[in-house]
Amino acid sequence: MGKKVLVIGQGAREHAMVWKLKQSSGVEQVFAVPGNAGISQLAECFDVKPEAEPLLDLVDRKQIDLTVVGPEAPLMEGIVDEFEARGMKIFGPRRDAALLEGSKVFTKNLFKKYGIPTADFRSFSDIDEARDYLRERGTPIVVKADGLAAGKGVVVAADKETAFQALDTIMRDRAFGDAGREVVIEECLQGEEVSVFALCDGKTVVPMVAAQDHKRVFDGDRGPNTGGMGAYSPPPFYNQELHQRVMKEIMEPVVKAMAAEGRPYKGVLYAGLMLTADGPKVLEFNVRLGDPEAQVILPLMETDYLTVLEAVIDGKLDRTPISFLPRASVCVVLASAGYPGRYETGHVIAGLEDVSPDILVFHAGTRRYGSQLVTDGGRVLSVVSTGDTVAQAIDRVYREIPRIRFEGMHYRRDIGARALNM
Ligand code: AMP
Ligand code: GLY
Repeated sequence: MGKKVLVIGQGAREHAMVWKLKQSSGVEQVFAVPGNAGISQLAECFDVKPEAEPLLDLVDRKQIDLTVVGPEAPLMEGIVDEFEARGMKIFGPRRDAALLEGSKVFTKNLFKKYGIPTADFRSFSDIDEARDYLRERGTPIVVKADGLAAGKGVVVAADKETAFQALDTIMRDRAFGDAGREVVIEECLQGEEVSVFALCDGKTVVPMVAAQDHKRVFDGDRGPNTGGMGAYSPPPFYNQELHQRVMKEIMEPVVKAMAAEGRPYKGVLYAGLMLTADGPKVLEFNVRLGDPEAQVILPLMETDYLTVLEAVIDGKLDRTPISFLPRASVCVVLASAGYPGRYETGHVIAGLEDVSPDILVFHAGTRRYGSQLVTDGGRVLSVVSTGDTVAQAIDRVYREIPRIRFEGMHYRRDIGARALNM
């Protein structure tokens, strides 16, 4: 009998997870909470709260063998602890290890204690002391809310006014609630950004492929930050030598440090790095797959996804060979007009049936309205192609995108272009 697997989340990342699980010979059925219109074509979706009690109830009722968590919020709330306490299998870190993403103050102090390369910083719980430090340091400078702020808690300030304003927004106005009880103020780093992923079972660290995200809304990295407008893998500048160095200086030491602190790390470890003139430095850690990075990484995963998940959960990574295809992939996000600001929803999405079958279309903000598919979020679809090279994947994905239409649809035309100019 195959396994029954539950995926928690509703984005294109979770659609990619469900799609990948469906290819696994060991998987009998996939469920999702809450899922979306795309996921519902592959999995049975349930609109229950992503909290321990209703989820455990569903797991019981449907006899689910294994649960995978897409987004960070349930991990911070301790969903893994609750599942484990009931003897249920779940993929992801416990609450005390999810702090790597949940608290920047915790993480920066860990880096300091264990000598992991990162931007110089100070943390503050007193706004006046933080103001004094800003005056002393000058600009450019980076101001970060300690806790989760839906990607809006980081301000890279080119001038003093912006820096003080960021501090007021976070600490005085508490725009992100308790996430702003403390701030980290850190040195502004320069360089190429890369997202590095590894699987960890508490002891063993196995690298996945790296990717590059495109966070700004417009071509040429202009405009405000978004949840991510596209990604590609592998980044050409992230060569073997750099990879070895990142594993030795960052990924392995962090996993050792977490074990030494009594917070063994299990799950996907995602390092957002800046490749500076002084070597790679950590900007942030996340405790899950990235979105849109998952949409390019999972299509390149050669090993059966269920095997990978079970190796991590059961602590067998040292005995499980895990490989990725030596190919490339590119993901372009199709967004609603106005995103990341205000946007409308409910516009009909047309043309999906005309897209070539070798292109993957993962849904994010979509919903069924009668017989139609309509927009239901800022990021609507992730369109993904693989190829022998990044250039080939770019050609393929951009050739197919114009077949898809919805009112106000916009997307970046330069996803992966950096890889071609290097
Ligand atoms: P984070 O959520 O910490 O990854 O920050 C979001 C974005 O802010 C990153 O992807 C970087 O582009 C930028 N950023 C964060 N920290 C720094 C830093 N120390 N220097 C320069 N840019 C940064
Ligand atoms: N790609 C950014 C994130 O998932 O946080």
